[in-house]
Amino acid sequence: MNDSLSILSPAASAFAHRTDTLFLTLAGLALFILLVLAATAVFFCIKYRAGSRASRAGVPLDAPRLEWTWTIAILLAFLALFAWSAHDYSGMTKASADAEPIYVVARQWVWTVQHAGGRREIDELHVPAGRPVRLLMTSQDAVHSLYLPALRVKQDVLPGRYTTLNFRADVPGRYPLLCAEYCGTEHASMAGGLIVMPPEDYARWQAGAAIEDGLRRQGLALFREHGCVGCHGRGSTVRAPSLDGLFGRRVALQDGSAVVADENYLRDSILVPAKQVAAGYAPVMPSYAGQLSEQELTALAEYLRNPGATPPSESQHP
Ligand code: CUA
Repeated sequence: MNDSLSILSPAASAFAHRTDTLFLTLAGLALFILLVLAATAVFFCIKYRAGSRASRAGVPLDAPRLEWTWTIAILLAFLALFAWSAHDYSGMTKASADAEPIYVVARQWVWTVQHAGGRREIDELHVPAGRPVRLLMTSQDAVHSLYLPALRVKQDVLPGRYTTLNFRADVPGRYPLLCAEYCGTEHASMAGGLIVMPPEDYARWQAGAAIEDGLRRQGLALFREHGCVGCHGRGSTVRAPSLDGLFGRRVALQDGSAVVADENYLRDSILVPAKQVAAGYAPVMPSYAGQLSEQELTALAEYLRNPGATPPSESQHP
């Protein structure tokens, strides 16, 4: 839309552009004042340096008038900045009557989203372009904060009550969705995507309630929730087998035998890990028997069939 403000991250809404204009104006004013003050200070340092012949006699000034002008000019400038930012801010917090409500539940360390049309998603938020959206958000545990940098909006998500976030995204595309409040070990990985779609695509997406990869998504969420990612995630400091590309491969076991990593191997590895320890690894994985329902095991198996690049580990293990 507007490339002149490209020193800032991409802006995907009219509000984001207004915020950028306000921000750059404030930054520009501050820089201007800094330069004037610094130049004046340097000028006087040189003019009145020790031994210079500059006159030390005072200059006659109309002091009260100068004081009043100075004070009122600065007051007006600040009031104008206040009115400007208050106008933008109230525009952001006001919900428009036809805004589409979307429910967001945060928990350590996943964003779950429920659309009125029935679709659920995890760590992703699909919204229609050019339409007002109202997020109704709550948390199951700690305080989180939903941050959509491309829209320049951020709102704390609290347990025990709903907070709201109103916006209208204008430019279709995929943008970051982040947690902006430290909420525990995996805070940094509590991130996902905001997907702004043309309204027709969004309607089609909403209608596709047969959630194609719902099971796989649920599996990924379980992989994070149950801490699998701590040891098996990318960059983990724990020596655990990588699960990326594992499915369908032959795995050499410690007892010298080998097995093909199929659904049953995965299932056993989760429920009875000591039964088949891969060669070269210590039998340190705990059993998850009793912690996962059959449905959740199915989702995990579906995810592990093709995890793609496993999410990065934020491992805190020794
Ligand atoms: Cu949730 Cu940080």
